[in-house]
Amino acid sequence: MLDEVYTAVATPNIALVKYWGKRNDELILPHNTSISITLDETFKTTTSVAFSGKLDRDIFFINGEEQNLDSHEVKERFKVVDEMRRMAGSAEHAVVYSVNSFPTAAGLASSASGISALVFATSKALGLDIGTSRLSIIARQGSGSACRSLMGGFVKWKKGEKDDGSDSYIEQIKGNGYWPDIVAFVAIVSEAKKKVSSRAGMKQTVETSKLYRERPNVAEEHAKELEKAIMEKDFPTLARITMEESNSMHAVMLDTFPPIIYLNDISKEIIHAVHELNSGGNIAAYTFDAGPNAVVVTTEKNKGDVYNALNSIGGIKDIVELKIGSGPRIADRQYEAEINAIIEKNR
Ligand code: DP6
Repeated sequence: MLDEVYTAVATPNIALVKYWGKRNDELILPHNTSISITLDETFKTTTSVAFSGKLDRDIFFINGEEQNLDSHEVKERFKVVDEMRRMAGSAEHAVVYSVNSFPTAAGLASSASGISALVFATSKALGLDIGTSRLSIIARQGSGSACRSLMGGFVKWKKGEKDDGSDSYIEQIKGNGYWPDIVAFVAIVSEAKKKVSSRAGMKQTVETSKLYRERPNVAEEHAKELEKAIMEKDFPTLARITMEESNSMHAVMLDTFPPIIYLNDISKEIIHAVHELNSGGNIAAYTFDAGPNAVVVTTEKNKGDVYNALNSIGGIKDIVELKIGSGPRIADRQYEAEINAIIEKNR
């Protein structure tokens, strides 16, 4: 008999209020609340999972390449599967077949869509009937920012107070249909893999940056202000907080010793171009994660001007227009042939 295959599709999110720094490295508990928008399926991860009694180990493929589950980095992320298997009381091994529709490790967190698709598909494959907040607690332990991709629209990841992390989960502020006017341009500046991983980088920041002492308070204040701006559909305020947040996070990165510098000259040109566009009031906002690629958030009315301004900057490789997405979904079984071939080969 063939083992049943479950497929989930998930997308990246972009933080408007940033997560950078953990109060617990093991459980991945953040020093501050963060808020993101989940992006549409222009960039996505499709992940199929099957559990089989025929295997004596887990097998994990990304983009057709088998991952080494003995490697620390892979194991750290794959532990979400162990956790769910334990919860379901299953002893079967998994085959995971995951495909990204965008460049891995290019500063656009493919880890967020990857882990949320993995968590979503695995929970279905194991028949785990748990709500999104519990799923987000599991996803968070694979990669912090990934938990925010488990819902669509505007999503808040609460920092929580408890040591066991049981109150550090996500909540949807508003769904993807709430503010359909919002447009996000992803400006691809570099497709190179980042030099310092977010995980290592944020640990160094917490350990060495004196400026960071104030960062959790700043972010917490921004999170409150941003939530209010979202509720009031106040774009100029949303834009200001988004830019201040990006700048605040990159400031503590620079204040890390040795400094962490993700922005390059083209990123800086984007920053200046957006401020020029905003000279008469905020119509756009830039935000950068752990890389030089920008996400520029604007509205339908102004997207033509914003696109033209970005397009006139030399060195931007691609500009991709996205909308706010609806979060992960279960899709029809995909990669069934690949998964069955893997099981046959390894049984
Ligand atoms: C810069 O979620 O990749 O994108 O929890 O260690 O896996 P780990 O880190 P990760 O950090 C991403 C941080 C960021 C900002 C953000 O998305 O909030």
